Amino acid sequence: MRIGVLTGGGDCPGLNAVIRAVIRKGIGVHGHEFVGFRDGWRGPLENDTRTLDIQAVRGILPRGGTILGSSRTNPIKIEGGVERIKKNLAEGGVDALIAIGGEDTLGVAKQLFDRGVNVVGVPKTIDNDLNATDYTFGFDTAVNIAMEAIDRLHTTAESHHRALICEVMGRHAGWIALHAGMAAGANVILIPEKPFDIDRVCSYVESRFQMQYAPIIVVAEGAHPAEGTMELQTGELDAFGHVRLGGIGERLAQEIEKRTGKEARTTVLGHIQRGGTPTAYDRVLATRFGLGAIDAVHEGDYGKMVALRGTAIERVPLEQATAELKLVPEERYAEAEVFFG
Ligand code: F6P
Repeated sequence: MRIGVLTGGGDCPGLNAVIRAVIRKGIGVHGHEFVGFRDGWRGPLENDTRTLDIQAVRGILPRGGTILGSSRTNPIKIEGGVERIKKNLAEGGVDALIAIGGEDTLGVAKQLFDRGVNVVGVPKTIDNDLNATDYTFGFDTAVNIAMEAIDRLHTTAESHHRALICEVMGRHAGWIALHAGMAAGANVILIPEKPFDIDRVCSYVESRFQMQYAPIIVVAEGAHPAEGTMELQTGELDAFGHVRLGGIGERLAQEIEKRTGKEARTTVLGHIQRGGTPTAYDRVLATRFGLGAIDAVHEGDYGKMVALRGTAIERVPLEQATAELKLVPEERYAEAEVFFG
């Protein structure tokens, strides 16, 4: 068989580990051949390919990013996009595709599968918000990067008697904020699932100062105040219709300063959370996902996504994985709330 591999959406530590596992088992055990498509769905759309053999994946296990490149190209939004992909796959003799991506990339994979393309998905996102898998690879790395940053913020916040706000990624789901905030002992954690009350945030800040301890507020980029309590600005849309976020941390700092009279500063971690080498956990999870994906293709079990359930790698329908986002449940947030203030 000739199998295409692509990585789509925001990059994520562990993508190269998945590619390596797919190639090593796909060639070494199953005897298939591969073609790499560059920059997510742009690759098969424009037939932009690169060699993907054992040599190409040597030494990439610890490397962040993706040797295939990535993009947020959405072929469904492009006139005749799906037909062009099908034509390019047929002309290139590509029998099946492994699509490594988050909700957007896998949403496209699902639609292509419905239109006759043999595709298997691998769940990728630092946000950990894909349904039907306990964890996505990249999340553990992002959480560890954020935790280390928050640890560092603690000491400088105390020296200067400031409130420090750490804005982390998480558009719809607050998993990174929740885990990094819990791991690093944040004063308060604000997530998109739970509109916050600015008065309460300020009272946590004040109580922390009263304890002679500087507050650290961890805020997910998609967090927002309860309606009518604080003004926010809106940004541009990307190809999947998502608003470009960023700015809630800065707004919080202004508001906290205004309401408490204490100096407040913001650190936006941004793409640092996605860059660099994956943790051991993510390398192993990504490798196991890669092995699971190539086995699914080898068995002709298409329209599936590999998923972590407990400690096992299982297969779930792409449909189930993309139907809705996995958000932070109320009870998980309540666990973190015990430590607020
Ligand atoms: O989906 C992963 C993610 O890291 C989100 O948390 C974030 O909102 C988005 O990507 C930002 O992506 P970019 O700035 O690369 O478009």
